[in-house]
Amino acid sequence: MPLTHPDNTPRPHRSELAVNPIFTREPVHVPTYDFPARGTDPEVAYQVVHDELMLDGNARLNLATFVSTWMEPQAARLMSECFDKNMIDKDEYPRTAALEDRCVRMLAGLWHAPDPHHVVGCSTTGSSEACMLAGLALKRRWRGTGTPNIVLGSNVQICWEKFANFFEVEPRYVPMEGERFTLSAEEALRRVDENTIGVVTIMGSTFDGSYEPVAEVCRALDELAARGGPDVPVHVDGASGAMIAPFLDPKLVWDFRLPRVASINTSGHKYGLVYPGVGWVVWRTPEALPDELVFRVNYLGGEMPTFALNFSRPGAQVAAQYFTFLRLGFDGFRRVQQECRDVAMRLAREIAELGPFELLTDGSHIPAFAFKLRDDVRDYSVFDVSAALRASGWLVPAYAFPANRTDLAVLRIVVRNGFSHDLADLLLDDLRRALPRLEAQTAPARGRDSAGFAHGAGSHR
Ligand SMILES: Cc1ncc(COP(=O)(O)O)c(C=O)c1O
Repeated sequence: MPLTHPDNTPRPHRSELAVNPIFTREPVHVPTYDFPARGTDPEVAYQVVHDELMLDGNARLNLATFVSTWMEPQAARLMSECFDKNMIDKDEYPRTAALEDRCVRMLAGLWHAPDPHHVVGCSTTGSSEACMLAGLALKRRWRGTGTPNIVLGSNVQICWEKFANFFEVEPRYVPMEGERFTLSAEEALRRVDENTIGVVTIMGSTFDGSYEPVAEVCRALDELAARGGPDVPVHVDGASGAMIAPFLDPKLVWDFRLPRVASINTSGHKYGLVYPGVGWVVWRTPEALPDELVFRVNYLGGEMPTFALNFSRPGAQVAAQYFTFLRLGFDGFRRVQQECRDVAMRLAREIAELGPFELLTDGSHIPAFAFKLRDDVRDYSVFDVSAALRASGWLVPAYAFPANRTDLAVLRIVVRNGFSHDLADLLLDDLRRALPRLEAQTAPARGRDSAGFAHGAGSHR
């Protein structure tokens, strides 16, 4: 069975797309699922693909995603100049490789590595690949004899569930409890033993945008090791928060300032402000990444160390990341992220003032927040609110929380660069306009089965 989204299930009666009505050129039909027997004029092919894609949502109104939907035209130009560069061809494109190396060192400095010029790290396709690599390094460094396990909150992004599954590590989830929606030091510690390869802490939970208590977790593990217990490293999944906290919360200690933090990942394509396709992982010291995981290839010319799941990968995103660092600098990043936080916190406050909603978070960690309907609102669901907003073009996901709060269903808004106070006002207007219609309902029209786009949150954990 092909891996297709349920909405895209092939429908056999539509085996051709009509190239109609504006085209006068041949052919007038192109096959939908069968490999085309002949080619098509590039203008016609372009128009066919372009027209179909018009039905996608508007990326700028996609408040579900953490991933960048806007870059400056110069960045787009630079990326188009690099579309033909393969990141793996480091010997052939040494300058692209040099930009990657510089970005790693800059991130290491931002995250207070003891010696930013002697860390190891690399670019990846995103945080998912970065987390897999960090998890693999933890597994290889572990010296236990039983089944390896990893301790993490049930709020982790789905990539950690994949890591545990693909690489046969037992996931020990800390469930949510009451109003605690992340892992706690105490609960993490209860699950740690001599077969624990590491504890994962998240800066910017996918479910509600909150920072996890990294320093408390590290302190608890320090005390455990001091008592003669296992010495367990910590990985920080900073997919979003590792590019927010350094600029907006410089006093918050969550990074390599904590000696127990072995590695940190982030998504360059989230608050690193680059279009989709780039993530980063940095290890505190070269010793934190076991050398036997690094492959050396020589058939591209030169002897090249690589640590990645992919081989070929676009170089354009790495060039764009370096451009972004250069273009904004620390102060520019701080201003962009502060604006996102201001918009998120103002929007959260005004949504709370509308009446039917209650905030779980307020956008003061990463610029994303989750909110639910008050318990006495029974005639419509968060899924109805999501559908009502979708009718005005806004993509605001609604989803249920994992164990032990599967009773809780929320909406989440992610504020990114380019989501201005003006757009926030327009969203509020549409939400205000939708409420009387929703309040006229006598029962919820949509349940949790209709949750369409939770962006990695909301799995079966
Ligand atoms: C905390 C966290 N970790 C990992 C990921 C996966 O990141 P990516 O989409 O860059 O693979 C996400 C994505 O939302 C996330 O929020």
